[in-house]
Amino acid sequence: MSDALSVEGQGWVGLDVAPPAPGSVVPARVGELKLVVCNVDGQFYALADVCPHVQVPLSDGSLHGALLECSLHGGRVDVRDGSPAGLPVRRAATTYRVREVDGGLEVDLGEVGE
Ligand code: FES
Repeated sequence: MSDALSVEGQGWVGLDVAPPAPGSVVPARVGELKLVVCNVDGQFYALADVCPHVQVPLSDGSLHGALLECSLHGGRVDVRDGSPAGLPVRRAATTYRVREVDGGLEVDLGEVGE
């Protein structure tokens, strides 16, 4: 089992980053698990911070509505469900439920999408 997987199954866990502004993203970590948190019109979404194409950080990309564009080849992922939304991304990204609590963010590591 990898370190990243070892933190999954823990339920809701707080993140040590401030919530990103609307239309922006922020990288976050829980142990060895790297995440990218996105703000789409005030709604937060969290994904594994790795492009499904060639595994570079999605947090280096740019958000266009609900689509996160990878900085390397311009592939896109729909942050709402992790689905591929632009080539060369063909596989879905891993998603996590995220919520705002007392001005901070928590992710649910007990329920992982895709
Ligand atoms: S590494 Fe992200 S689109 Fe190629």
